[in-house]
Amino acid sequence: MSCNSAWATRRPSYPDGAGAAKDHNISYAARISGVGRYLPSRILTNHDLEQMVDTSDEWIVERSGIRERHIAADDESSSTMGAEAARMAIASAGIEGSDIDLVVAGTCTPDGPFPSVATRIQHSVGANRAGAFDVNSACTGFLSALGTSAQFIASGAAECALVVGTETMSRIVDWTDRGTCVLFGDGAGALVIERAAEGEPAGIESLVLGSDGGQADLLYSHGPCTAPVVLDGLEQEAKIVMDGRGIFRNAVTALTKAARQAIDEAGLTVDDISLCVPHQPNIRILQAMARGLDLPMERVFVNLDKYGNTSSATIPIALSEASDAGRLQPGDHILFAAFGGGLSWGAMVFQWSGVRVPVAAAMKAGAAAAAPVS
Ligand code: UT7
Repeated sequence: MSCNSAWATRRPSYPDGAGAAKDHNISYAARISGVGRYLPSRILTNHDLEQMVDTSDEWIVERSGIRERHIAADDESSSTMGAEAARMAIASAGIEGSDIDLVVAGTCTPDGPFPSVATRIQHSVGANRAGAFDVNSACTGFLSALGTSAQFIASGAAECALVVGTETMSRIVDWTDRGTCVLFGDGAGALVIERAAEGEPAGIESLVLGSDGGQADLLYSHGPCTAPVVLDGLEQEAKIVMDGRGIFRNAVTALTKAARQAIDEAGLTVDDISLCVPHQPNIRILQAMARGLDLPMERVFVNLDKYGNTSSATIPIALSEASDAGRLQPGDHILFAAFGGGLSWGAMVFQWSGVRVPVAAAMKAGAAAAAPVS
């Protein structure tokens, strides 16, 4: 499929006649054709955290399921990590940066107030025809970004979009607060979505987004997120403040309800869902959601033990790993569900059609491309 038609050629021309009116009602399906991820190399284990705050590996594993998380280097940021994930997604989709019409990044930890993370990624991947902007709904940011991008595809305003979830949570974590610092990590994930061919059994089947700003005090961050983190010296400015129990209760209720609604609106039942690829806040939250949906945990993708909660990045990282692990087959109905500060939440059902180049092969191709020419 081609992704390179120019923006101008897709502007409605408003000709007279019944046929034209019908044309303006066209809505295209959006298929996922490429996935990618990037995790910074530095790993912070629960045992490392035992040296920093009054906690234990046993407590963290039992109460959250998390064993380790990745932490960005000083010269890494949400845009550099997002660009790495994006490069892999582009390779996996078998396209060029210049094929992309739109770049949308979900992030609550941008490099600075502006320019957007999306424009930095746009430049970095050579998406030289694309518009670009960020979306922030905290941990629901990726679903909001994907839903927004899918609307561009549906209307015909774009044929190919790069959607990125990328976070440097370590820059806003309060490393003196054991109730929050054990939960979060850094990383990025990315998808390429494209207009599906007519009749292709693929695309986004439902999207539910919800919010409750009246409960904003349960989870928020204050301060800028531009200062580099100093883990051992504990120097940082921005901080996450969270009522863990309040968030836990709300997360279980909202995730379960949004997921059920998204499945209903797709005209499906829970039995039709091959795999749920949820946000990764806490294993107990995911288990409670699965119980509420009557969905066996074997059909819930979990990787929070390795990465913790990477906010907007959890879902695209998990989808890329699920694809890599062969857990997604063409025709499968997949469920996304996310919850975060705002409060904000959402769920989406889509039908998987397969990436063009398997992720592992795309990684190898990326490594070969990056190797110096002798
Ligand atoms: O995307 C959404 C982002 N946020 C979340 O999803 C967080 C949702 N909430 C949670 O995941 C859980 O509430 C936590 C993991 C944050 C906490 O687990 P909990 O079972 O709800 O523990 P709690 O807050 O009820 O605290 C129980 C005890 C307290 O001690 P006391 O008062 O009983 O003496 C805490 O001070 O555990 C203590 N505690 C810890 N102990 C060791 C809290 N954090 C720690 C820690 N290590 N890291």
